[in-house]
Amino acid sequence: MSRSGAAVSVHRLSFFYTNNGRRVEALREVSFSVPGGGIYAVIGPSGCGKSTLLYILAGLLAPSAGEVLVNGEPPLPGRRATSLILQDYGLLPWKTVWDNVVLGLAIRRLPAGEVRAAGEKVLKEMGLWELRKRYPAELSGGQRQRVAIARALATEPDLLLMDEPFSSLDALTREAFQDILRNIVQGGSLTVLLVTHNIEEAAYLGRRIIVFTPHPGCVYKIFENPQAGLPGYRKTAGFFRLCTELRGALEHGRDQI
Ligand SMILES: Nc1ncnc2c1ncn2[C@@H]1O[C@H](COP(=O)(O)OP(=O)(O)OP(=O)(O)O)[C@@H](O)[C@H]1O
Ligand SMILES: [Mg+2]
Repeated sequence: MSRSGAAVSVHRLSFFYTNNGRRVEALREVSFSVPGGGIYAVIGPSGCGKSTLLYILAGLLAPSAGEVLVNGEPPLPGRRATSLILQDYGLLPWKTVWDNVVLGLAIRRLPAGEVRAAGEKVLKEMGLWELRKRYPAELSGGQRQRVAIARALATEPDLLLMDEPFSSLDALTREAFQDILRNIVQGGSLTVLLVTHNIEEAAYLGRRIIVFTPHPGCVYKIFENPQAGLPGYRKTAGFFRLCTELRGALEHGRDQI
C-alpha cells in the first residue's frame, strides 16, 4: 500500500494542565506546520511543553485553545496511522521484545503470516532480531529505545511522533540510528515529528526545526534546513553554522522569559 506522510498544522495552540484547581500553562499560542513526508524537529529546554505537544498531536490531550490538524482533521486518540514513542518507551514489562514489537499488529487482528513478516522485517532493520525473546528488564536503555521505535514502525504509520527517541544511546550509536531513521523516512511515506534536546540531532535530521522558548512554550524561531539528512552533512560548515544559530536561538529564547 502506498500512502504519503501526514501533514501537520498547529494554529495558535495553547494548553493548560489543571491540578487541584491550579493551572499550569504548558503551551502558549504555538503555530507551525509541516508538509507530508520527511523529518521535522522540535527543540526546546526541559519543561517547555514538547511532550505535551506530542500528546495533543496524538489526540491524547485536547487543546485548551487553538487548532491542531493532522491531514486536515483534528487528531483522535484512535487514529491508527499515528504512532507515538513515549519518552519512557512505554514497553510492557511482561511481554518479550517480539510481543512488544508486534503488539500494534496483533491488536489490529492482522493474519498471523503478516504479523510474522512485519515483525521480522522491523526487528532486523533495528538490529533487534537476536534479542527478540528477551524481556524489557533484560535490555539496556538503548536497546529498549530501539524496541519502542521498532514497535512504532511495525504498523507502518504515516505520522510518527518521537519524544527524545535516541537519548539513551552513546554518540556514535545515536548517529547510526539517526541514519536508520533517515533511510526509513526517505521516499516520503512517513512524516516524523522528532522532539529533542540535542542541537546536533535537530540540525542533522530536521528539514524544518521549530525552536521553543522555555516554559510556557512558545515558538521562538523556525529554521529551514534543506540539507537535512544528506550524507556527510554533519561534517560541513553549513551544519556547524546551523548548530551555532540553533544554540543562539535557544539562548535568546531563554533570555526572553
Ligand atoms: N500532569 C501535569 N500537571 C501539571 N503540570 C504538568 C503536567 N505534566 C506536565 N506539566 C508541566 O507542563 C510543562 C510542560 O511539560 P512537558 O512534559 O510537556 O515538558 P517537556 O518539554 O516535554 O520537558 P522535558 O524536556 O523535560 O521532557 C512543565 O512545566 C511541566 O511541569
Ligand atoms: Mg518531555
